Amino acid sequence: MWVCAVILLAATTGFSNGDDWSYEYETRWPGACTTGAQQSPINIMSRSAIVDKLDAHIQGPLVFRGYSNVNASAANDGHTLKWTIEEDEIPPVVSGGPLRGNYSFVQFHLHWLSEHAIDGMKYPMEIHLVHVKTGLTIEEAVERPDGLAVVGILAEVHSTSEENEFALGELEPALPYLLTRHEGSYPASVIDLSRMFSSNMQSFYTYHGSLTTPNCQEVVTWILMDRPIKMTDTQFKLFSKVDVGGINNYRSLQPVNRVIHRSRESSATVAIPSAFGLLAAVLNLSSSVTGVMSKGMCTLVNIKKRFFGKGVKDCSVAEALKNKSP
Ligand SMILES: *[C@@H]1O[C@H](CO)[C@@H](O)[C@H](O)[C@H]1NC(C)=O
Ligand SMILES: *[C@@H]1O[C@H](CO)[C@@H](O)[C@H](O)[C@H]1NC(C)=O
Ligand SMILES: *[C@@H]1O[C@H](CO)[C@@H](O)[C@H](O)[C@H]1NC(C)=O
Ligand SMILES: [Zn+2]
Repeated sequence: MWVCAVILLAATTGFSNGDDWSYEYETRWPGACTTGAQQSPINIMSRSAIVDKLDAHIQGPLVFRGYSNVNASAANDGHTLKWTIEEDEIPPVVSGGPLRGNYSFVQFHLHWLSEHAIDGMKYPMEIHLVHVKTGLTIEEAVERPDGLAVVGILAEVHSTSEENEFALGELEPALPYLLTRHEGSYPASVIDLSRMFSSNMQSFYTYHGSLTTPNCQEVVTWILMDRPIKMTDTQFKLFSKVDVGGINNYRSLQPVNRVIHRSRESSATVAIPSAFGLLAAVLNLSSSVTGVMSKGMCTLVNIKKRFFGKGVKDCSVAEALKNKSP
């Protein structure tokens, strides 16, 4: 009986249960992943997001402390590339905005393609900076609706030779060691997380949602920056070569059915990824497109609309790419 209880506890806490889930079989994900009503990621329609003019929900600016020197070790856990802060280090802390209290940085990881969409548009990559309410363990945090805060930063692809100026440049040295799943991690080194910050970290959408991996606990205050950062084609190709158990590592979009707030600084201008950058990345990644199709959803519909206008059959761009030999 005791053994059973311990196993059950282990199965219901924490971020994930190792490798007993996959992005190919989302419908088999456990618990809140299939029964929850506040799941993530979602498509955010900029026009239906509420601007919080009275500062009732977003009570002042976000405050980021200590993000420029983070001693973190990198790992490929079979689902993502993840950089986790060393245990004995003082973590960066975010507060303000929609957050009540301080949230300590634990790890960041990457999704390609992006998990969230803005106005139906997906981006090539999304970075998640995961924070736990200061003073709580992760196990405690996933039991509380306000336990976690995740800052999401979208990345778009820009073709250029000035690679070293780009935000993700300092992650590259670890990549050759992270191409396949490993036990253990790449030795800790100091990373300047503020290099990954968007050009205006006060310009964001925020809503209450869930972890995007099993067990999908609905304990996350999401803060999604609306201005994408830039990476190069070469970087994107480097990241997308990483084996994360499949071609992509993003969860399907979930029903919105809740209020999305946007900060006052998140301007009326809709943030649209550079059309060239996005299409260029997609064209060079036909295998990734095949992955999208096999999940039975067409994230490329909107790209198609932008490039070819109305009247083109849904997903025809994707179909054309799929049939093209790689
Ligand atoms: C980072 O952490 C590692 C492992 O804990 C340690 O050996 C190293 O000295 C740390 N680096 C810095 C700059 O503190
Ligand atoms: C958050 O951290 C700051 C700086 O350490 C501290 O002054 C403040 O009291 C903390 N806020 C809460 C709600 O704990
Ligand atoms: C696409 O890939 C080709 C060959 O790898 C490369 O020469 C080209 O620059 C890439 N273009 C873009 C826009 O990514
Ligand atoms: Zn994530």
